[in-house]
Amino acid sequence: MTDQVRIALLNVSKRFGEDTAVDGLSLAIAPGELCVLVGTSGCGKSTTLRMINRLIEHSDGQIHIDGQPIREINEQALRRRIGYAIQSTGLFPHWTVARNIGLVPRLLKWPAERIQKRTRELMQLLGLSETEFAGKYPHQLSGGQAQRVGVARALAADPDILLMDEPFGALDPITRESLQDELLRLQARLHKTIVFVTHDMEEAMKLADRIVVMDGGKVVQQGSPQDLLTAPENAFVESLLGGRDRGLKQAGLIPVRDVMHPTGARRQTTAAAVSADDDLRGALSLMLLHRLSSLTVVDERDRTVGTLGVDDIMHRKNLLPAASAKPANQSSNQSSNQAYNQPASSSDDGDAVEDKAKVEDGAEQTSPSQDRGPRHEE
Ligand SMILES: Nc1ncnc2c1ncn2[C@@H]1O[C@H](COP(=O)(O)OP(=O)(O)OP(=O)(O)O)[C@@H](O)[C@H]1O
Ligand SMILES: [Mg+2]
Repeated sequence: MTDQVRIALLNVSKRFGEDTAVDGLSLAIAPGELCVLVGTSGCGKSTTLRMINRLIEHSDGQIHIDGQPIREINEQALRRRIGYAIQSTGLFPHWTVARNIGLVPRLLKWPAERIQKRTRELMQLLGLSETEFAGKYPHQLSGGQAQRVGVARALAADPDILLMDEPFGALDPITRESLQDELLRLQARLHKTIVFVTHDMEEAMKLADRIVVMDGGKVVQQGSPQDLLTAPENAFVESLLGGRDRGLKQAGLIPVRDVMHPTGARRQTTAAAVSADDDLRGALSLMLLHRLSSLTVVDERDRTVGTLGVDDIMHRKNLLPAASAKPANQSSNQSSNQAYNQPASSSDDGDAVEDKAKVEDGAEQTSPSQDRGPRHEE
């Protein structure tokens, strides 16, 4: 593999007995890329993540990290390099927030002061006040706070890879949006290689550099959100992307500032204003709400910086393609190869983590609840 690829899956399959959960999957994820896996329930997303961090072993094919087969990377090194965050957070209920965050560094036998310093740093990074939260237990946290702790824990050993399995799935829309914003802010700063699983297409479009659509353990299509919205491979991808809302979703990916006319160029101030940082979807909504065909565009200090007309949106290149690239009833699974070519401790503690992850595995299949009752301890 070239040095452009951090995680490579080459024709990877996973079988559970007679059942094939992942079927000849090939994926190449570049350093610093935020790659989002989407697809219907049971299509193999979580299995794919778990094969990457070796919570489960792949049956066939090869998985490489920076060109090295993962089976040749020792467990400590893998743990240091890969952070894992899941919907149920997987926090130990009888450990404080600080102790939960320091889990992996402790397994890696960092000195106590270094763990403490790192925990403090991460709490600050995730907007968790140390005085308020360090000594609390998971059951004393809201869902959003617990997710932050889960993400902090995943980041603790400063891994270059983060695997996130529906990490914000259980949250209300407002908390979810604020955690998404935080993830994007963190990513702009930390440049991790992230594989993120979600069922929420809005979330996928907001976060992804690349979306990988899976079905039946295979890749159906992959590309940037814009690519997928412009040319969904088949009816399955199209329906996953939101069917007839596709035009609006696409408008949601384009910032107003890319389309507006700077002040003085053309139009007068109007009765309603949109922020230059908002997207065309928000602008269209505002136009409908105020029955206006153009809007004033303002900056973060409410100064007028331009105007935006509905015709500017309509004539924007790449927005609202005349029709789907493929007839809506045509279904195909052809694109995976073509898409692949796109660039795009103490042993006790160790066992506890492995066992816990396996407990999570089992628990996740049966219950989405955050409160999992007694679990394996240190
Ligand atoms: N440990 C296991 N033993 C047997 N079958 C399993 C195991 N883990 C997953 N499977 C099966 O493999 C398939 C893929 O499961 P996986 O958890 O990867 O799906 P998913 O895409 O993450 O689904 P969801 O969106 O519901 O989380 C499913 O049919 C599932 O039942
Ligand atoms: Mg899953």
